[in-house]
Amino acid sequence: MELRFLGNTGLKVSSLCFGTMTFGGQWKMVGTTTQKDADALVSRCIEAGINFFDTADIYSTGESEEILGKALGPRRRDVVVATKVRGRMAEAPNEVGLSRHHILESVDRSLRRLGTDWIDLYQVHSWDPLTPLEETLRALDDCVRWGKVRYIGASNFAGWQLMKALAVSERLGVERFVTLQPLYNLVVRDVENELVPLCQDQGLSLLPWSPLAGGFLTDKYRRGRSAPDGARRAIAEDQFLKFDEERGLDVLEALADIAAPHEGSVAQAALNWLLAKPWVASVIIGARTMQQLDENLATTKWSLTPAEVEKLDAMMPPPRVYPNWFIEMSRQDR
Ligand SMILES: NC(=O)c1ccc[n+]([C@@H]2O[C@H](COP(=O)([O-])OP(=O)(O)OC[C@H]3O[C@@H](n4cnc5c(N)ncnc54)[C@H](OP(=O)(O)O)[C@@H]3O)[C@@H](O)[C@H]2O)c1
Repeated sequence: MELRFLGNTGLKVSSLCFGTMTFGGQWKMVGTTTQKDADALVSRCIEAGINFFDTADIYSTGESEEILGKALGPRRRDVVVATKVRGRMAEAPNEVGLSRHHILESVDRSLRRLGTDWIDLYQVHSWDPLTPLEETLRALDDCVRWGKVRYIGASNFAGWQLMKALAVSERLGVERFVTLQPLYNLVVRDVENELVPLCQDQGLSLLPWSPLAGGFLTDKYRRGRSAPDGARRAIAEDQFLKFDEERGLDVLEALADIAAPHEGSVAQAALNWLLAKPWVASVIIGARTMQQLDENLATTKWSLTPAEVEKLDAMMPPPRVYPNWFIEMSRQDR
């Protein structure tokens, strides 16, 4: 499997990262993978060359971290483990957010659950409007100074929030975010407007989440066919991942046409489109079953031609927002 640098750091990660949001018993909507099944999935990932795993404190309220830590066992030293902080973990008023209090409590709890002495990439799960960035970034910097964390990243930030955080880090002389983990796939491409240029300018890598739009960009969905029983999209009609399904069905047809001559699948073509983007370091794949995982791992056995990438680029581009089109237009006289 290809290895890529994580942002401007000297750390190399596999171009596919395994996401473990499905691990644990509490998040029934996305999956309830047990320890036994997780052991097998994690081993298969490592055999295939994956060295990068993503979890979060809130996934099944800590269970995902525990299961991942046990599944890795002594192999933990050979892999890069990413987790997150920000979400509510209990009812008490300070069990949420990016305060110094919650970060320092949470990092120790994540370390305990993962059964490790360090977290490779500690990500803030989203923006906290109620805590000053200075407080958050100093607390994260302390985690790095104390050896509990090696790199820090952001997730689900708007452009101005990420840029402000990078500027605050520079002003304080503290650790800066090296990655952004955003929602990014062929049918949800909003990040291309502001966040992709920002990350390229600032040397951050993107780590796309829900690269298959929660299972939509796979062979099991087609125009006129209903979602299969048990699939996430079939049991969660009110889920938060929304996009224009009608146009998405056209994308599915194009993916099927592109995949066929490569003897690949729709999912592999969708993942390969993300892998073709130079701003992506690692695509966070999800899989509820071994069959899905095997299919997704085989993505790296082939790649899209530049013409195929271009065709997919044109299908569902992000909304054309001001001032981007104005800036593009005024570039012509430079
Ligand atoms: N930072 C954040 O806010 C955030 C948010 C969400 C996720 N994440 C991270 O991103 C990871 C991946 O997210 P995701 O699970 O939403 O990714 P995804 O790839 O969009 O969806 C994965 C789901 O699609 C289905 N699937 C996967 N491969 C398939 C295949 N080959 N054929 C048919 N169906 C297939 C499975 O669900 P069904 O079988 O149920 O259809 C699977 O659980 C998570 O584990 C987590 O680490 C982060």
